[in-house]
Amino acid sequence: MLSRCLTLLVLLCYVGHVYAREMTCNELDDGQEGHDPARMVKHGPYFIVYYSGLEQTFIDPVNGKWNIGLGFAKHGFILKGDNLPRWIYDELGDKLNGDPIEPGTAPGMLNETVMYYCVTDWDLDDGSACIGRAVAQGDPPFPTWVDDGKVICSTSVDAQLDIGPFNIDPAAFNDYEGRTWLIWGSHYSGIWMLELDYHTGHLFPLDEPGWDGDNPNYIRVASAEHDGEDGIVTPDHRDYLGGQIESAFVTKHNNWYYLFVNWGRCCRGHASTYNIRVGRSRSPSGPYLDDLGRDMKDRAGKQFLQTEGRHIGPGHAGVLEYTNGSTTTYIFTYHYYDRDMAAGTARIVAMEMTWSADDWPVLSDTYFNPYPDPLHGKWGIQTKGTQRYWHEDGLSTKLINTVFQGGDAHNVFMFDRTEDGSYRIRVEHERGLVHEHGIGDQLLSTRFGTEDDHSRYFFELQPDDGSYRIRVKANGRYVSENADQTIGTLSQVDDDNSRFFLTKLN
Ligand SMILES: *[C@@H]1O[C@H](CO)[C@@H](O)[C@H](O)[C@H]1NC(C)=O
Ligand SMILES: *[C@@H]1O[C@H](CO)[C@@H](O)[C@H](O)[C@H]1NC(C)=O
Repeated sequence: MLSRCLTLLVLLCYVGHVYAREMTCNELDDGQEGHDPARMVKHGPYFIVYYSGLEQTFIDPVNGKWNIGLGFAKHGFILKGDNLPRWIYDELGDKLNGDPIEPGTAPGMLNETVMYYCVTDWDLDDGSACIGRAVAQGDPPFPTWVDDGKVICSTSVDAQLDIGPFNIDPAAFNDYEGRTWLIWGSHYSGIWMLELDYHTGHLFPLDEPGWDGDNPNYIRVASAEHDGEDGIVTPDHRDYLGGQIESAFVTKHNNWYYLFVNWGRCCRGHASTYNIRVGRSRSPSGPYLDDLGRDMKDRAGKQFLQTEGRHIGPGHAGVLEYTNGSTTTYIFTYHYYDRDMAAGTARIVAMEMTWSADDWPVLSDTYFNPYPDPLHGKWGIQTKGTQRYWHEDGLSTKLINTVFQGGDAHNVFMFDRTEDGSYRIRVEHERGLVHEHGIGDQLLSTRFGTEDDHSRYFFELQPDDGSYRIRVKANGRYVSENADQTIGTLSQVDDDNSRFFLTKLN
């Protein structure tokens, strides 16, 4: 994404974050607040989308919905603040200006463990920028991202003369022969491709000095019209080599390569004009032609997705080809500005994509939903602190506690998903409904069994340990184990006795 919008974006990300935290549910079709999604990756059982602002969101197998965007900086991403790699200062020097920079802006994923990211000083917006590489260590959904150094840097001179690439918005892919390609660029001189050394994920030595007009390995594959600052095409702008183009992405299907790019402008709230174009080629390096046979390099591209209804300014295409058993699903992710929300709030959605008879991508209206009934089956609920399992007392109080660990039907719980994403919790024994006593002791029991918001619970995955906090819909109170081993919502301290592991039972 091009910079002029960045100040706005950061602010909105922040606002979006607060908003997201206050939301009680995020169904898949609403998407999750975020901007510039990298293509979705499947890491373990998690479908993760990394996006601008050092953030990530994911669909997990236990609650089956988008999890709130949690800054992955908090979970070990090293490219922030004092941890900024030295090479970035060496390359961009005082251009960083001492201001916060955004090394995680618009990342691109080669796969679940390799990320390309860009870094620039958006305040200057002068065309100097670098792309770096980072690798994931540790377990999903919050691996630690470790910097793997510079891939390529551009100078303001190259980019401003509209001849060399502006090094932002990276994406990467492996071609049918197993070679790795970097694709990137924004405005100025358009979209570029370069083969990377498969073994290192970095440039081949020959290409190391960076872009050079005489080096044919740097291939310009797409450009767009420039409509001027105010959306008005002027003769001047027509002569301008670079138009409004960025967010390139390549995916493969049936021996074709497909290049998606964004035309138009991002980050202007409901006035954003982002739209997604596509072309295809038999060769990874192009030429990419649209459905009329026009080369995308010459400002062409088949319209794939544009503003429609609530979805304003769709952008930043990404595709995950996901095979589960004998079924292959193509999952198309993008962001849009939501007409029904505060101007500028961007959401990321994941839709299923199919292919036409003549091999063009077609966006379906089906939201990707890998875990439609994620808590199906029978479960044990274990308090993290005491490591004891929940149990329904056979006495008339029918309290939920951890006193008995008998491993019978009183220790087995089942979850029914409701329309708002919350769950009802039932004990296998007589299918007793777990209910929070509204006033007084705030204990959980199956004694009353009333079907109201005191018997609806949200499960919130905790990134640091994989446990869940369980929140009552009626009052937002969190469930915890008391000192006397009863389960209730009296204590609102976030400690190990208010975190629970779910164990799948056969
Ligand atoms: C991701 O790509 C890197 C670099 O090519 C490779 O070493 C790694 O094995 C890949 N990871 C997966 C899970 O395919
Ligand atoms: C994979 O397929 C199986 C069998 O159809 C299904 O039960 C499971 O939910 C699928 N998993 C995902 C993550 O799509």
